[in-house]
Amino acid sequence: MKIIAGNWKMNGSLAMLRDMYAAIADVKTNNIVVLCPPFTLLNVRHMDGVECPKHLIIGAQDISEHDGGTFTGDISAKMVAESGAKYVIVGHSERRANHGETSELVAKKAVKAIENKLMPIICVGENAAQRESGSAFDVVGEMVRKSIPNIDSEIIVAYEPVWAISAGKIETGKNDRTATTRDIAEMHVFIADILKEIGRAGTKILYGGSVKGSNAAEIMAIPNVDGALVGGASLKASDFVATVLAADIN
Ligand code: 13P
Repeated sequence: MKIIAGNWKMNGSLAMLRDMYAAIADVKTNNIVVLCPPFTLLNVRHMDGVECPKHLIIGAQDISEHDGGTFTGDISAKMVAESGAKYVIVGHSERRANHGETSELVAKKAVKAIENKLMPIICVGENAAQRESGSAFDVVGEMVRKSIPNIDSEIIVAYEPVWAISAGKIETGKNDRTATTRDIAEMHVFIADILKEIGRAGTKILYGGSVKGSNAAEIMAIPNVDGALVGGASLKASDFVATVLAADIN
């Protein structure tokens, strides 16, 4: 059983959500399926007779490190939990890069998630310059150690090399770079070893970076890969369904 989580980023509409609910309702899978739409869609559970399927878990893409108060534009973990969401992504590379989020801040957000019974998906991953300079393992190791809070509660880790997100388009403007099976395997075993060392053996590690229907089965078969965080291929219902089904390798 794998966890397949769709991250819509700043995309999505009522029409897209309706299509996704209708498509997922018909999917029979052993995988856990999660969808993380923007905040505005989190508590939309039925439209025009289409219901959010019971086997689709809704998650948010971020939360504040604060409980509430004078933080214009921010959304607390409690608000997200009240919307009915069960998961939350924290520390996505786009938050780290575009909003200056540090691993220390990400750990604080993960604490708020846990306190509010949300499952945190804690993202880590090196960028192209870090990979090319040979520091990918140091960077990811430090991110894992600093972004995971010291609380005895289940978490999920997602490894997303920034250079492989949208096939490299974010960093180079071109769609021509994906991680090899070996790249993924090496980093996942490295992360799994750190998790063991910090007393978190068995923590699920998702892979993210251009996962789609045509490569999901191969990626899910890599040791220590427990699921996927899917961006582009989660936007269209048929693409996401294809990814969920392809990832159902058991
Ligand atoms: P893509 O699947 O579009 O590469 O995005 C990955 C990602 O950032 C998911 O969080």
